[in-house]
Amino acid sequence: MIISPSVLAMDYSRMKEQMEEVNASQAEWLHFDVMDGHYVPNLSFGPDLLRGFDKLSDLVMDVHLMVEQPHMFIKPFVDAGADIITVHEEVLHDYERVMEMLEYIHSFGVKAGLAINPMTDVRRLQAYLKHCDLFLIMCVEPGYGGQPFRPASLSKIKKLRGWIDNTGSKALISVDGGIKFETGRDCVLAGTDVLVAGSYVFKDDIGKAVDTLVHCADRTQADKADS
Ligand code: DX5
Ligand code: ZN
Repeated sequence: MIISPSVLAMDYSRMKEQMEEVNASQAEWLHFDVMDGHYVPNLSFGPDLLRGFDKLSDLVMDVHLMVEQPHMFIKPFVDAGADIITVHEEVLHDYERVMEMLEYIHSFGVKAGLAINPMTDVRRLQAYLKHCDLFLIMCVEPGYGGQPFRPASLSKIKKLRGWIDNTGSKALISVDGGIKFETGRDCVLAGTDVLVAGSYVFKDDIGKAVDTLVHCADRTQADKADS
């Protein structure tokens, strides 16, 4: 199980220290939420901050663009160290525009992801099974950390898992929003490959929280949680 802690939930007065804890944990990716104040009602980080994190860590830099103009930001984030760049299907909408964007991201030699919001039909991803490296299922409305997980996300994951397995697509499924032990376990059992988690990972002991998520669907962990 790949865990991608979300920088959005870090304590910004202790970023370096917390990054060292993430590096020492079992996390393999680092999730970087980019918000422009237009596509979502919040502002977050630009490429310069990613460059700083990239210097502090060898983790896979998993960049999630919640912006109206993704094209403008692809190269700056690649130059800053992005390994995966995910854009929102709702921003592009049209098949040709999505395909152009995926090709543009791939042209820099980085992996390309496509995200959908809770209100978007998962079937909108079906045309891109062979063209994406990652599908990001938003389990909350994008914009803020700490929101409750929407259980309707589970049926989307199951459908997507079935399509990926049936077509031989190599795409990974990632989930983002409201992920903690129980919701993480439900997502893993539904077929998720990557768990993005912000507030759950950064609330206390980072290493322990990541470890719990890595093993959330293991038999013993599940039994412990049930007892
Ligand atoms: C929300 C972001 C998430 C956020 C998740 O718009 O895309 O990555 O950091 O935060 P939690 O895990 O606290 O729901
Ligand atoms: Zn995100």
